[in-house]
Amino acid sequence: MQESRFAPGFLLGGWLAAAAAGDVAAGKTIFQCCGFCHSVTKDNNGIGPSLWGVVGRKTASASYPSSASMQKYGVTWNEQSLNAFRRAPMRAVEGTKMTYAGLTNSVDHANVIACLQKLHE
Ligand code: HEC
Repeated sequence: MQESRFAPGFLLGGWLAAAAAGDVAAGKTIFQCCGFCHSVTKDNNGIGPSLWGVVGRKTASASYPSSASMQKYGVTWNEQSLNAFRRAPMRAVEGTKMTYAGLTNSVDHANVIACLQKLHE
């Protein structure tokens, strides 16, 4: 795993500020499992697309060769759609290339989303 690929994003001072909906610091820790496949820097795709700015963008809109299933899914990522996808990626988007069983703990989930929402600045 290339630690250096996503570490700089985690060090941004602003991330340490408490978020209203979830705990950003806790989200960062949990996000490390996502970081195996996703970077948090713009246009820096790994096994999966970069998650920079993911909250608020349409599915399959990153500079990444998304699967046909993801292109067809066609939603805008927000707390709700990320929730559904994250819980069971392969059920929410049948045929997705994201072979990840899902993040089932909803507290963990809220924290990861709080963390992802910071990826705009
Ligand atoms: C085993 C590697 C892997 C892991 C672990 C993983 N992903 Fe993914 N992810 C992918 C791949 C590959 C895709 C592209 C899916 C497609 O195009 O069908 C993807 C797609 C996505 C997308 C859709 C992006 C877009 O541009 O529409 C989101 C959001 C996402 N992942 C979030 C996460 C989060 C949050 C985690 C941690 C809880 C995570 N992923 C863990 C491989 C992974």
